[in-house]
Amino acid sequence: MKALEGVRILDMTHVQSGPTCTQLLAWFGADVIKVERPGVGDATRGQLRDVPDADSLYFTMLNHNKRSMTLNTKDEKGKEVFTRLIETCDVMVENFAPGALDRMGFSWERIQEINPRMIYASVKGFGPGPYSECKVYENVAQCAGGAASTTGFLDGPPLVTGAQIGDSGTGLHLALGIVTALYQREHSGRGQRVLASMQDGVLNLCRVKLRDQQRLAHGPLKEYSQFGEGIPFADATPRAGNDSGGGQPGRILKCKGWEQDANAYTYFITQAAVWEKICDVIGRPEWKEDPDFATPPARLPRLNEVFEAIEHWTMTKTKYEVMEICNPLDIPVGPILSMQELSEEPSLRETGTIVEVDHPTRGKYLTVGNPVKLSDSPSEVSRSPLLGEHTREILQDVLGYSEEEVSGLREAGAVGREDCATT
Ligand code: COA
Repeated sequence: MKALEGVRILDMTHVQSGPTCTQLLAWFGADVIKVERPGVGDATRGQLRDVPDADSLYFTMLNHNKRSMTLNTKDEKGKEVFTRLIETCDVMVENFAPGALDRMGFSWERIQEINPRMIYASVKGFGPGPYSECKVYENVAQCAGGAASTTGFLDGPPLVTGAQIGDSGTGLHLALGIVTALYQREHSGRGQRVLASMQDGVLNLCRVKLRDQQRLAHGPLKEYSQFGEGIPFADATPRAGNDSGGGQPGRILKCKGWEQDANAYTYFITQAAVWEKICDVIGRPEWKEDPDFATPPARLPRLNEVFEAIEHWTMTKTKYEVMEICNPLDIPVGPILSMQELSEEPSLRETGTIVEVDHPTRGKYLTVGNPVKLSDSPSEVSRSPLLGEHTREILQDVLGYSEEEVSGLREAGAVGREDCATT
């Protein structure tokens, strides 16, 4: 048994945020039925294509372990099928622009009438308020959620990060909301509405920056590099470059080969508990007794000097040598790993975090497997479905339509003609 076996998800998601959520639920064992527009499907199938006429990596890497059916939910017959899906499924997940499902005639009130046990989960760009009607993509969420204003260097513009905290981050939040609602339904017998807005999700991940915003009222943020550099603080939490976000100062430092290799760097944290070991490793044992360096408060105004000395040492070692020397001493460091290095890392292959998948039209490719490991519910990654690959199977086996009825739906254009015919 998988953890979510028996849970059926009506997956109306597209692009990244929603699909991230339903892919996770599928890995935990839910039966995820992805409903796509006939002949078109999720727009990402055709975006950023690297192999002609094959589903893109954008799509395949976000839609593993799902089944796909095509259905025109704006067509009258299609709406009848959609109504049967709502009756049959436990959860509906969607991340359309605001109001899209209402315009199809499926408001929350209507969904509750059809199936009072239905959990109706949505990702939207913003929660209720002045921007609730806006369409939102990843970088808009990073900007509106506080991440961009606090990322980058003090003398540069706001920066977005490569981690998809707006899309995949909000998908993760939504998945937690869904399993929580499923748990509550065990007691209440009722479904409920679950909403995760991308602005809220990003702000939640930027919690420590709101912490710093309030600390500013009581004086400068001494662990920020700008404090030691004598640069005054303005009214808002500033961009902190690569400064550590916590109470243990850290930075990205050059390692051997940095002149040729864009990723020959390490993150180095001057954790107070191991300060004396750091002094020995970098060849500055006198700092252990020096009142200017011996305690964390004394070091805060001198972080540039501290990290220059550490970097002087890290530049004589590769990023892996830094790790090998520091780890046994409990000094927290981490190499800057490229996507190439990660994709080749044997330990990630062994744990199923990096997985090779075979696909009938695109061949073999790498993906990221389930990052959450359950001891009683292991995840196997299976390829994403072709557009409408399971239309007939779902109409007949899940919804109980007869062969004639399936033909009728095809003739009426409620489901995709080719999609349905090919299985
Ligand atoms: N049958 C018929 N129509 C369908 C359909 C189906 N199976 N599936 C979708 N559609 C229709 C929708 O009803 C909608 O029609 P409408 O505008 O007439 O109501 C239309 O397809 C497109 O939906 P929309 O969500 O507006 O797509 P978009 O490409 O214009 O916008 C986003 C994309 C991501 C900007 C938008 O969906 C959005 O803001 N979503 C919420 C936030 C979010 O998740 N953003 C991150 C995405 S990773």
